[in-house]
Amino acid sequence: MGFSDDVKAVAEQIAAAPEITIISHIDADGIACEAILSQAISRQGIPVRSVFVRQLEPLTMPQIPSDTSLKVFTDLGAGQQNLLYDRGLGEKEVVIIDHHVSQPCERHYSQVNCLPYGHSRMSAAGVSYFVAKQLDPINIDLAKLAIIGNVGDMMAREKCGLVGPARDIIVEDGLRHQSVEVRKKDLNCYGTATRPLHLSLAYNDDPFIKGISNNPEGARQFLKRIGIRQQNENGRWFVWEEIAVEDKRTIISALAEQLLANGEPVDRLLAETYGFPDEIPRTPLRNAQEYATMLNACGRWSKPHIGGAILRGDRGVAYRDAEHMLNNHRAIIRNLLQYIIDTGVRELENLQWIHVGGRYPDTIVGIGAGMALSKLNSTKPILVMCEVPEDTNLTKVSMRTNERVVGRGVDLQQALSDASAEYGGGGGGHKIAAGAYIPKTAEQEFLDRVDRILGEQFAAASTDNR
Ligand code: C5P
Repeated sequence: MGFSDDVKAVAEQIAAAPEITIISHIDADGIACEAILSQAISRQGIPVRSVFVRQLEPLTMPQIPSDTSLKVFTDLGAGQQNLLYDRGLGEKEVVIIDHHVSQPCERHYSQVNCLPYGHSRMSAAGVSYFVAKQLDPINIDLAKLAIIGNVGDMMAREKCGLVGPARDIIVEDGLRHQSVEVRKKDLNCYGTATRPLHLSLAYNDDPFIKGISNNPEGARQFLKRIGIRQQNENGRWFVWEEIAVEDKRTIISALAEQLLANGEPVDRLLAETYGFPDEIPRTPLRNAQEYATMLNACGRWSKPHIGGAILRGDRGVAYRDAEHMLNNHRAIIRNLLQYIIDTGVRELENLQWIHVGGRYPDTIVGIGAGMALSKLNSTKPILVMCEVPEDTNLTKVSMRTNERVVGRGVDLQQALSDASAEYGGGGGGHKIAAGAYIPKTAEQEFLDRVDRILGEQFAAASTDNR
């Protein structure tokens, strides 16, 4: 059996169901999964409803309806199969469409997961898209949504563009459908549709460019020095996507020169990016990265359905609500990032950690942790703990690291799922980013346990490399 056999089997099970409930994750990838599958399923004439959960854990299990519908779990489920088993869900009642590490379970639920087939740079929205396309090739209009989910889940980050089936099949389908534009050697920079040029350059620290990264005034002076017009006659700032190709070239070569002059590599200066030409210019919907942030904002602020409405084309009330959430989301993340930097982290041998108490929602601490990492000691994974408002006995844990540390043997998914299981909690995710819920009383012991597991992982990898 290969990946496409699993896709086929799951599509058949879905096509035969009289009624379906999709249970999806609240992040951009999960929201994209839901929008892809619920549209593909409705197009088959099958009644479908959707439930979003921030994670599958004992606290959120009651949100899964007790009815006869086929339960399709997307962007979650693989790592929580024992919870489905404990809930008494039978093999015929469940389908899992995921890209997280799978948990062994005595019940064999139908699952399509790209990870066991080595497609580690494809998100659950990518897998959902393959299922949708298997249901009916007409669903290629949904490739755009899959690209947003993939980019939102950082699948394009390490290689500066999507790779594997996400690139070769999904992006190509999007191009064929003409709803996606590929910019092969674009600037590797966030905010190219909405941020004034100098802010876009200044907020970027991958690659870090001395005098420009984290320095809006420096970036403005740099653009002035190389003769780039930054504002129109009314004083409105230009964004990257609307400036002339020659200006883009001038900026890119000047940035490359600057990097080289500082003895820095230029390999991350350019990236393949994905634009959406049919969306309104200067909105976050114009490229996959900013679109995904808008979806994340909806999900993390408990309105994933609004993100879903936008993916279905609503540009009215839903879009206005989402814009509002996006502004709020950005402000709170900036605040969280500053809080982590100002307060400082504590270091154990193999990790650095901070407890942010009840100051920030548990749904965003992971994002803040990821952003803080590049400003801290990036050789050690960061662990952030926070309170869970719905259950004062629980603590949410989020961990992030980078590819270099993963290359040295670290697997945060394994560390958090093993350590949390020892204290009666649950966790999962990926090598590079993982989360868990643990009992509040176990915080200190848990930290030491994760630190020890990471130490074992580093040691095992260095023995293997000898
Ligand atoms: O919540 P956070 O952003 O830190 O989650 C990071 C990754 O870990 C996500 O992919 C999420 O789905 C996964 N995760 C998980 N089980 C948990 C918490 C998070 O699989 N209990």
